[in-house]
Amino acid sequence: MQISVVGSGYVGLVAGACFADLGHEVILVDNDAQKISALKKGSVPIHERFLPELLERHRGKRLKFCGNLADAVRTSAAIFIAVGTPPNDAGEADLSYIESVAREVAGAINGYKVIVEKSTVPVYTSNWIRTVMLRNGVEPEAFDVASNPEFLREGTAVTDFLYPDRIVLGADPERCASVLREIYAPLTSGRYYENKTAMPGPERAQVPPPLIVTSAKSAELIKHASNAFLAMKISFVNAVASICESVGADVQQVCQGIGTDSRIGRRFLNPGIGYGGSCFPKDLTAFRAVARECGYDFRLLDEVIRINEEQRHRFLRKVRSALWTLRGKRLGVLGLAFKGGTDDIRESPAMLLVQTLLQEGCSVAAYDPAAIERAREVLCSKVDFVGSPYEAAAGADALLILTEWEEFAALDLQRLRAQLKYPIVVDGRNLYHPDTMKAHGFTYYSVGRQNHRS
Ligand SMILES: NC(=O)c1ccc[n+]([C@@H]2O[C@H](COP(=O)([O-])OP(=O)(O)OC[C@H]3O[C@@H](n4cnc5c(N)ncnc54)[C@H](O)[C@@H]3O)[C@@H](O)[C@H]2O)c1
Repeated sequence: MQISVVGSGYVGLVAGACFADLGHEVILVDNDAQKISALKKGSVPIHERFLPELLERHRGKRLKFCGNLADAVRTSAAIFIAVGTPPNDAGEADLSYIESVAREVAGAINGYKVIVEKSTVPVYTSNWIRTVMLRNGVEPEAFDVASNPEFLREGTAVTDFLYPDRIVLGADPERCASVLREIYAPLTSGRYYENKTAMPGPERAQVPPPLIVTSAKSAELIKHASNAFLAMKISFVNAVASICESVGADVQQVCQGIGTDSRIGRRFLNPGIGYGGSCFPKDLTAFRAVARECGYDFRLLDEVIRINEEQRHRFLRKVRSALWTLRGKRLGVLGLAFKGGTDDIRESPAMLLVQTLLQEGCSVAAYDPAAIERAREVLCSKVDFVGSPYEAAAGADALLILTEWEEFAALDLQRLRAQLKYPIVVDGRNLYHPDTMKAHGFTYYSVGRQNHRS
């Protein structure tokens, strides 16, 4: 099928490359001319596992890049909108990018098209897109609007897309549902997975994935409610971690105990410095705004957000209790991305903490396997960006672990200790067992567990 994906960011680029891998002819559109020209030349603008391979496989063949949306619309049966939906000052989703795409699509329509929301949008957005199309003179028979929320996670985006837990299609009229069913048929029929060239999937992938067909409104709500629920799980476990610290319990043991209950599940029960990224923070405030608009005061979400912010302050207090005063202290920092496996620093708790530490008068040497270039654009010369965890530790009063990159969980602890001025580690991601750190002579602070002072 001929597909356009509008917006070539984290979601659009991955979705476009994966649709091409499913056998579709894809045009990736972006209004950032530099991005399009770089993509045409073969650059990979984001750090995402398996994405370089997919782009290499399909670039210039089943995957084309284009700056002109109208041209792409004319040759496509389905147009996926994957542009940003950032928060405005009131915390609502700013839908102006979506509206501008809808207007452009309306101006170019030349036959029946399915317009698909891939971006995360509030309930009723599909109605608004429909209204925009009609106001711009498009006949009702010439299009349908569907919602196909995206659940990929940065860091595992390609495998999440190709081996999803489920595919949600919010498609009211059957004629657009059938187009979307056909697009996803290689996955839902299991055909893709029999292919020798299929990208490798996670060990416990459920193939073929279930297809859930709903109304567009339900699909829009599924996405917002899913992200709100996951954020709630993180804040819940962080609140439990705080109680563990007060009573001397071990949050990792508590998580094992509650996570093995199949009704609860182990995933996302990871205490730390709070969630971040381009999705959870904005989706929570947007969902809260949607609820308010509908007359429901969703105060639970306020509490989820409050606990998340508090978690960063708690971490800062730990750094203070490890070092007493902060002014003039040298800190080694491991991790700037909002999570492991990505170079995305949007709303990264690590970045927010580094900025606070700089304001407090600390000097910082930071290392991240992928996010240094993006972090440099924000932090400029205020931070020494270094090439390894050991360089970050060199001469530091303490080492802070802020992102759960796998590489940070496998450090040579003897070497690390030798680098540090004082053997103090404040671990915001619980990557080490306190006994191991104690055995290596570290004073070790982590989340929801007893501190170990050497
Ligand atoms: N990043 C994630 O992990 C993730 C996961 C699921 C859903 N989402 C949702 O997907 C949407 C996109 O997120 P993202 O992280 O990919 O954003 P992004 O900022 O990385 O990419 C958005 C892209 O859209 C382009 N764009 C903006 N206006 C345009 C226009 N009028 N025409 C063409 N291109 C235009 C921008 O230049 C940019 O390249 C958001 O709604 C987000 O909430 C994101």
